Amino acid sequence: MGLAKALLLCSSIACLTFAATETTSWPPYSPTSAPIFQLSDDSQFAFYLEEMLGMASYGGSSTGEILRIATQIIPQDFESFYTACYYMAEQVFAIAESVDAKKDPVSAREAYFRAASYYRGADFFLHGNQSDPRLISLWDQQLTAFDRANALLVIPGERFSVKAHSEEIGDYESIGIFFAAYPDNSARPTILVSGGYDSSQEEGYHSQCRQILSRGVNCVTYEGPGHPTVRRQQNIGFISDWWTVATPIVDYLSTRSDVDMSKLALAGMSFGGCLAPIAASHDDRYSAVIAIDGMFSLQQALEEQFPPKSIALFNSSNVAGFNEVMNDIQANSTYPTEIRWIIGYGLWAFDTLSPFDWFTRLGEISMNATLVANISMPVFVAKAQDDIGTEQEPEIAYEMLTTGRPNGKALTYYHQFNTSLGAGEHCSLGAESQVWQVTMDWLSGVWGDWTYANN
Ligand SMILES: *[C@@H]1O[C@H](CO)[C@@H](O)[C@H](O)[C@H]1NC(C)=O
Ligand SMILES: *[C@@H]1O[C@H](CO)[C@@H](O)[C@H](O)[C@H]1NC(C)=O
Ligand SMILES: *[C@@H]1O[C@H](CO)[C@@H](O)[C@H](O)[C@H]1NC(C)=O
Ligand SMILES: *[C@@H]1O[C@H](CO)[C@@H](O)[C@H](O)[C@H]1NC(C)=O
Ligand SMILES: *[C@@H]1O[C@H](CO)[C@@H](O)[C@H](O)[C@H]1NC(C)=O
Ligand SMILES: *[C@@H]1O[C@H](CO)[C@@H](O)[C@H](O)[C@H]1NC(C)=O
Repeated sequence: MGLAKALLLCSSIACLTFAATETTSWPPYSPTSAPIFQLSDDSQFAFYLEEMLGMASYGGSSTGEILRIATQIIPQDFESFYTACYYMAEQVFAIAESVDAKKDPVSAREAYFRAASYYRGADFFLHGNQSDPRLISLWDQQLTAFDRANALLVIPGERFSVKAHSEEIGDYESIGIFFAAYPDNSARPTILVSGGYDSSQEEGYHSQCRQILSRGVNCVTYEGPGHPTVRRQQNIGFISDWWTVATPIVDYLSTRSDVDMSKLALAGMSFGGCLAPIAASHDDRYSAVIAIDGMFSLQQALEEQFPPKSIALFNSSNVAGFNEVMNDIQANSTYPTEIRWIIGYGLWAFDTLSPFDWFTRLGEISMNATLVANISMPVFVAKAQDDIGTEQEPEIAYEMLTTGRPNGKALTYYHQFNTSLGAGEHCSLGAESQVWQVTMDWLSGVWGDWTYANN
């Protein structure tokens, strides 16, 4: 879910220079009023460290290990982020391998899960160079570590893939992991969840599924084109007909006896808060949609934060001019990490070398009046109070969903998570307990006052 949280949050000299000459400036970092306490002077590194730290509550990291990684990271130095995470990943993976998993499966499982997270961390800032072989090798390492951990769960998740077809790219496969709440085959409520611009199924297991499973609800993670594993294994970037990703998975779920199809919800994190409503506009089998956070259009949010001169080039279809500006920013370490990362990662995730192509296609993945009019089920729209990176997207999504569809006001629920309770960062990172308490309470109502298990 690590969409850049605040592209131009100015905590460094370079950022201030950038802001002064090119675009809007934000208030400087002040620990007493910031949504998170920064573990790095580089606000984007701090954001991703918080994302990893948040997983500690759900077995995806350990606080001591993350705090140690933080000590080794140099602001704006992407290689230092790789080196610090990779060192920890290798050490923790070695611990996992050294454990006799027959004697102590818990120690092995926990270390494999953490190692997987740190391999992902090592990868996160390397995408500016699409030919970097580490993009593949690190991902293989994270998948290996995660799968070894998964095999040691009391109820291991089941990986699956289903055939899919998009008007844009033709045939491909959607992939998922089914995490059953119980080993029996009784039909249970089920939540299907995806990340957004950059997060993976493996991260989703910790940050969403653990909360969902603990209440006796099945959790199914999935990925489509542009998502980390599909992008690597099938060489395909994001597409706008996102329902072609999710609907074949729902077809598959409907064949399973352990899924109660009358209680199937679709959740999306970060940019997934845009993808989930798009999918639901073409499939009325979901009883509810959960957008954490609400997002109408990511392109719209970025337009507000990129240098106005660059957006003017884009608006006037100056392909060469826009590409030059974006490529220069991406390659220049004096610019803020947020903006460099979102361009570099985006080019990779959209499987393109052209910033103009990336930004154009990003704009095509958006909620719109036609889609919204066809979303028939209740929608939960979350807002994190001080998520500067997504601008007013949750408010815009809420407005569309209330006014743009039949009975919209009754069917749309809005909740703001606040900074005063540590939940004001993008996707309320680190406050997952608050997010799922409120979300599951709402969902219980949608499901006819459903009573959750204590699993
Ligand atoms: C990208 O990575 C490849 C493979 O490691 C390397 O040969 C190339 O020089 C890198 N490109 C840049 C611009 O750093
Ligand atoms: C809304 O989005 C869908 C899916 O991307 C697209 O097919 C359709 O043309 C869009 N409609 C409008 C009015 O933009
Ligand atoms: C509206 O949703 C239904 C099912 O939920 C789907 O079959 C149909 O194609 C959708 N129509 C439009 C215009 O998106
Ligand atoms: C670019 O176009 C968008 C959408 O038409 C508009 O909202 C925005 O103000 C324009 N920005 C600039 C800098 O021209
Ligand atoms: C990087 O950007 C700075 C402005 O932030 C500029 O002064 C410098 O010349 C740029 N470096 C390169 C190599 O383009
Ligand atoms: C969040 O803060 C707003 C005021 O800024 C307040 O109206 C709202 O009730 C708070 N929400 C929660 C869940 O505390």
